[in-house]
Amino acid sequence: WPVFAPLIDAINRLKTERGAVILAHNYMTPEIFNCVGDITGDSLKLAQVAAEAEEDVIVQAGVHFMAETAKILSPEKTVLIPDMKAGCSLASSITGADVRAIKAAYPDLPIVTYVNTSAEVKAYSDICCTSSNAVQVVEAAAAQWGVDTVILIPDQYLARNVAAQTDIKILTWKGACEVHEEFTPGDIDELRAAHPDAVILTHPECPPDVMARADFAGSTGAMAAYVKERAPKKAILITECSMSDNVAVENPGVQFVRPCNLCPHMKRITLKGIYEALRDMQHEVHVDPEIADLARASLQAMLDLPR
Ligand code: 13P
Ligand code: SF4
Repeated sequence: WPVFAPLIDAINRLKTERGAVILAHNYMTPEIFNCVGDITGDSLKLAQVAAEAEEDVIVQAGVHFMAETAKILSPEKTVLIPDMKAGCSLASSITGADVRAIKAAYPDLPIVTYVNTSAEVKAYSDICCTSSNAVQVVEAAAAQWGVDTVILIPDQYLARNVAAQTDIKILTWKGACEVHEEFTPGDIDELRAAHPDAVILTHPECPPDVMARADFAGSTGAMAAYVKERAPKKAILITECSMSDNVAVENPGVQFVRPCNLCPHMKRITLKGIYEALRDMQHEVHVDPEIADLARASLQAMLDLPR
């Protein structure tokens, strides 16, 4: 990508000067993901790495809740995000006040909160989860609280998809990912008819009737691992657009059909934005220390579960 080369060189130079690490989510565009990302992966992996990072500066090539998670887990580090407006429809679907109201209504039930939420929402919850460990976290929370019902917020589809994989009863919220909720069962049926030789992989933020038609469902990390391990002839990833681009780079022998929806929030992160963040040490993410302490407990409860 010659057009990107000067920016990539400048970012990699600045990274060393600033003692920075760039965490890049699987939905970053390929030039970010492949050329400047030091650690790449799904939300769970990025949270784990943020907790253990040795560098003084973390640049989050991802959305705001991911940068907040990094700051909560590494309060002594400088956490930068190239664009403060990189939000998430799930994170904006619920507030800390909403969670306190849920807690007041159901004081005896654990609140499991998806990491795609603000620090305040995490703070008033009992434990966090990601799409790769949601079933495990729900079952662990039910066992620890001695209950048969768990509150899993804010993604209604993730909650219904988890409910289909466990005996634990699940109450949820009305949030949805604006990228994954757009896929329909009809889309999958058409793709299946047009490409009967392809494996179809979905993300658990998709509606249940979409998930039910797929061959595999998992987090972005689990989807990438599936393609690498199984090396199918043809694959269809029902998720954000950059995912197929990035998985294709790693798996040149696999043919990808690319139906996808763009996440406008993820796409706010650009090479230019990363360069400017490092050059000017800008868009530092701050979290109120009291909220951060409470949110850290919810994240740590998740990270302490056996991997
Ligand atoms: P994972 O990378 O954890 O699968 O999450 C997907 C997502 O939509 C993050 O915004
Ligand atoms: Fe949020 Fe969906 Fe975008 Fe992920 S893909 S950041 S869940 S809106």
